[in-house]
Amino acid sequence: MKRLLVTGASGFVGGRAAEFYQGKYEICAPSHREMDITDEGSVYAVFERFRPDYVIHCAAISDIGSCDREPEQSWRINVDGSRNMAKASKRYGAKCLVCSSDQVYQGSGGKGPHREEECIEPRTLYGKEKKKAEEECLRENPECVMLRLSWMYDVDRENRKGHGDFFTGLLSGLKDMGTVRYPVYDVRGITDVNEVVENLEKAFELRGGIYNFGSPNDRNTYETVLAMFEGLGWDTGRIERNEEAFAEQPRDLSMAQEKLNACGIVFTSTVEALIRNGKVREEFIHKWYV
Ligand SMILES: NC(=O)c1ccc[n+]([C@@H]2O[C@H](COP(=O)([O-])OP(=O)(O)OC[C@H]3O[C@@H](n4cnc5c(N)ncnc54)[C@H](OP(=O)(O)O)[C@@H]3O)[C@@H](O)[C@H]2O)c1
Repeated sequence: MKRLLVTGASGFVGGRAAEFYQGKYEICAPSHREMDITDEGSVYAVFERFRPDYVIHCAAISDIGSCDREPEQSWRINVDGSRNMAKASKRYGAKCLVCSSDQVYQGSGGKGPHREEECIEPRTLYGKEKKKAEEECLRENPECVMLRLSWMYDVDRENRKGHGDFFTGLLSGLKDMGTVRYPVYDVRGITDVNEVVENLEKAFELRGGIYNFGSPNDRNTYETVLAMFEGLGWDTGRIERNEEAFAEQPRDLSMAQEKLNACGIVFTSTVEALIRNGKVREEFIHKWYV
């Protein structure tokens, strides 16, 4: 059995990855306490002991506000920690997948869908950290696969990890307020985290480089939710347009799919997946929605 090291396994993506690949790979999923990615010695000790064939590196400060509040610490984790993982993977011959983000495209100004080779100037500190991590990881280990993930959600269960993901936010908004508001000046892909996790194994085969890795979506977020409600036969009167958010600087983080598709990895479109998930999990959703 091949060996798979997963970082950030107490988190939203890493937890699901460690669980999904259990039984198919021998898994090592050290906690933050067992392996602090900012401590090179602790990272090398785990690699020395476990000798992974593959690494899925999910450990991060994933919240934009937390990065702004603790810039030095988040830089250490998101940039230096990722570089440590890339370096150790090179030394021990492991294929390393690193989670990046569509937030690197915020600030490029241009309309999407954005392509991987575009010149980017991220506006937020989180986006800057992700861009720097991409550069540092690829410099240390050109075989690293940097995955630009979009906003993700899970409808499979109540969100154990306490993450404010898209679907949980939508359903609790409906439950608590009766209506939900979504921005008309914000375009981005929203992806089922389970589809991301399933596709990670295919990403082990990718050549080193940067890849957009999430559902395509060319609608703004208001139109996305509207299309989902129409597809599910839900009451569209409960969705309101938010005309203020991003009005001064409209945001478009949508990602081009050509590079990934050419490698045989295809994501379901955002609206199609939301409708499919909504139908499959109707009973669960009903609990929230009514
Ligand atoms: N969730 C999304 O919608 C989304 C979208 C785009 C990109 N991404 C990216 O995808 C990756 C996974 O995101 P996520 O949502 O799963 O994040 P998350 O739920 O916030 O989990 C982050 C994980 O990192 C661990 N961690 C933090 N600092 C660490 C350190 N110094 N050493 C070892 N472990 C450490 C945390 O453990 P403790 O809690 O014990 O500290 C936790 O397990 C991140 O790179 C994120 O930026 C996520």
